[in-house]
Amino acid sequence: MLIKNGTVVTGSDTFAGDVLIENGVITRIGVNLTADGVQVVDASGKLVLPGAVDVHTHFDLDVGIATAVDDFYTGTVAAACGGTTTIVDHMAFGPAGCNLGHQVARYHELAGGKAVIDYGFHGVIQHVNDDILAEMEPLVGEGITSYKLYMTYGHKLEDADILRVMARIKELGLIVSAHPENDGTIAYFKGVFHKAGLFAPEYHAKSRPFHCESEAVNRLLLFSEMLGDVPLYVVHLSNSLGLEYCKQARQRGLRRVFVETCPQYLFLNEELYTREDGLKYIMSPPLRDKSHSDALWRGIELGDVQTIGTDHCPFNFATDKQRGAADFAMCPNGAPGVEMRLPLMYSEGVAAGRISVNLLVSLCATNPAKLFGLYPRKGAIAPGSDGDVVILNPNARRTVSKKDMHENVDYSPYEGFELAGRIDAVVSRGELIVKDNIFVGEKGRGKFMRRSKPITQI
Ligand code: URP
Ligand code: ZN
Ligand code: ZN
Repeated sequence: MLIKNGTVVTGSDTFAGDVLIENGVITRIGVNLTADGVQVVDASGKLVLPGAVDVHTHFDLDVGIATAVDDFYTGTVAAACGGTTTIVDHMAFGPAGCNLGHQVARYHELAGGKAVIDYGFHGVIQHVNDDILAEMEPLVGEGITSYKLYMTYGHKLEDADILRVMARIKELGLIVSAHPENDGTIAYFKGVFHKAGLFAPEYHAKSRPFHCESEAVNRLLLFSEMLGDVPLYVVHLSNSLGLEYCKQARQRGLRRVFVETCPQYLFLNEELYTREDGLKYIMSPPLRDKSHSDALWRGIELGDVQTIGTDHCPFNFATDKQRGAADFAMCPNGAPGVEMRLPLMYSEGVAAGRISVNLLVSLCATNPAKLFGLYPRKGAIAPGSDGDVVILNPNARRTVSKKDMHENVDYSPYEGFELAGRIDAVVSRGELIVKDNIFVGEKGRGKFMRRSKPITQI
């Protein structure tokens, strides 16, 4: 494929040029390129961006009371239509006592033959013993170079176990993320509200105040510091105090602390919980007031936030979410977002003048690819990188509407948003897979990415 006359954007540069992709790999970037027997795509007036990388999805996530409704087919089709050409999925917990390999094997079964874009898995740590810590080493060779643990929910880890995992992560040169919320705080507030007969969705948010998240973030930062700068990736950060703690840690000398936030924390606020359809927004951490969104935007602009993920974890409003109708605590946690990340961030970030298009590329493609061992194969437009490209028309507009979307869920939290910019086409390994919002690729064409160790100098 030869993509001609576009404005090529990388994390650092913007230039007029052509991109030649041969056998799935970018071979040349230049002006007036020609090649025989290739598909020519005219990108005049368009931006040519690296395919975006979303390192926080939960396809097929089984949370016991429900299973996320996007599987690796529908979820990756939606991702592709939104300009994402690689995902790294967070695996669900397995049966009690299972080893790490159990869930890796399970996820190969779930994704293989279904995913339409390239994919990897984060390992999940649900209990800690010597065998689990030993098993992390051989799994590096199988491409599992990052792990997530939980500080609340079932299978939460106690502090001593978190420290054991973090020490091992450092030893192996990997990166750890943790769902940071203080479990005791949630239990306390849930008890208070339940006793007072308060079961509406807004009490989901009130039972998980921002202090609850910030405390857990700070605990992780201090653990990283006391173990000598363990690479730490703070997932789905939703609040300003947590961000402040991360900045302070960096100022104290931690060089390997990275912050991810998600569009829901930038675009949606806690008032939504008091609406009739408040259950749609039950997620953890919960939505906050606008001052937190403003602080996160500022963190993005100043470089204190390094990535944008989605935490895509969709449950149908008409059915699964209704489990919480009589009690917020019974509602499966999570919301959809994989399809709208790049369009939202382009519109409200770049077109609105908050960030450069290069920073958009860094946040949504290059940085996540580096941190999760996918770079330079992914997250770059450079000779030798995979031919994963998004062609975006900066002059078009769209109104977000569920009816035009591909996520297999009955709502979008962004319904009715007016966005500047529109994705014209998406290319994965030199193959056109999305044209004018229609998926034209084949089911199962996605490849498992055996990820390398993280690059933490970003
Ligand atoms: O509410 C959320 N975020 N659900 C997905 C699982 C997680 O905590 O990331
Ligand atoms: Zn989480
Ligand atoms: Zn998540």
